[in-house]
Amino acid sequence: MSRSVLVTGGNRGIGRAIAEAFRDAGEKVAITYRKEDPEIPGILAVRCDVTDSRQVDAAFDEIEARHGNVEILVANAGVTADNMLEDMSDEAFRHVYDTNVGGTFYVARRASAAPMPDGGRIIAISSAIAPYGAYGQANYAASKAAQVGLVKSLMRELAPRNITVNAILPGPIQTDMYDDLSDEVKAGHIASVPLGRCGQPAEIAGVVTFLASPQATFVNGVALPVDGGALGHLI
Ligand SMILES: NC(=O)c1ccc[n+]([C@@H]2O[C@H](COP(=O)([O-])OP(=O)(O)OC[C@H]3O[C@@H](n4cnc5c(N)ncnc54)[C@H](OP(=O)(O)O)[C@@H]3O)[C@@H](O)[C@H]2O)c1
Repeated sequence: MSRSVLVTGGNRGIGRAIAEAFRDAGEKVAITYRKEDPEIPGILAVRCDVTDSRQVDAAFDEIEARHGNVEILVANAGVTADNMLEDMSDEAFRHVYDTNVGGTFYVARRASAAPMPDGGRIIAISSAIAPYGAYGQANYAASKAAQVGLVKSLMRELAPRNITVNAILPGPIQTDMYDDLSDEVKAGHIASVPLGRCGQPAEIAGVVTFLASPQATFVNGVALPVDGGALGHLI
């Protein structure tokens, strides 16, 4: 089995770990990048800003020509632009929402427009703060919660085509996005994790590949925390 996989934002961080895990499992993997081709062995890199639906369409055209229609889509690309409410600009709100929600919408719409005769998998990388909120992250938390609403709606629409749609809610994961946080905020995050540590990108990749595996054919519409137990008291 060698399926066509697309991981948005697969050039670094969690997305890269996911892309490499699929490649190592023998799938045909494509990623998007924005600036420089990361030149990851065995992975097709396509330039694409997910906030622009025309770039999304062009990226899919290229991937379909090289690997066939995308059967596993991982909507991973995401950004933060933190500030307290009174200091959060219109631009910061729209930038985060357009990337995290708009980008997920554009790629899911384009992926589902192509035939998937053997069914498909769509997996969105949301966040453990989606149902919880976070100081200084009103735009980010709203966008991550909206991703879950999107997933649950697409799940209903696409189930008749045997396309499952799920969300993963990572806790703090060691990437550039996490490293950008202040030491104080990081300490607060770790204190909220019963396992007492940050997660690694590979620990998200393992769950994504499970959701795309034959063992997960009946898992649909879930918002799955992968956070060392941080959300255990909420769900
Ligand atoms: N790290 C965490 O603690 C954590 C926790 C919960 C959820 N998440 C989520 O996990 C996902 C990956 O996060 P990460 O920690 O790996 O972040 P990261 O290291 O900052 O990487 C973000 C990725 O998204 C890409 N991206 C951003 N805006 C884009 C756009 N408009 N078009 C295309 N690609 C774009 C980036 O591309 P460039 O290289 O071009 O910037 C990069 O590949 C995000 O959705 C994030 O919200 C992360």
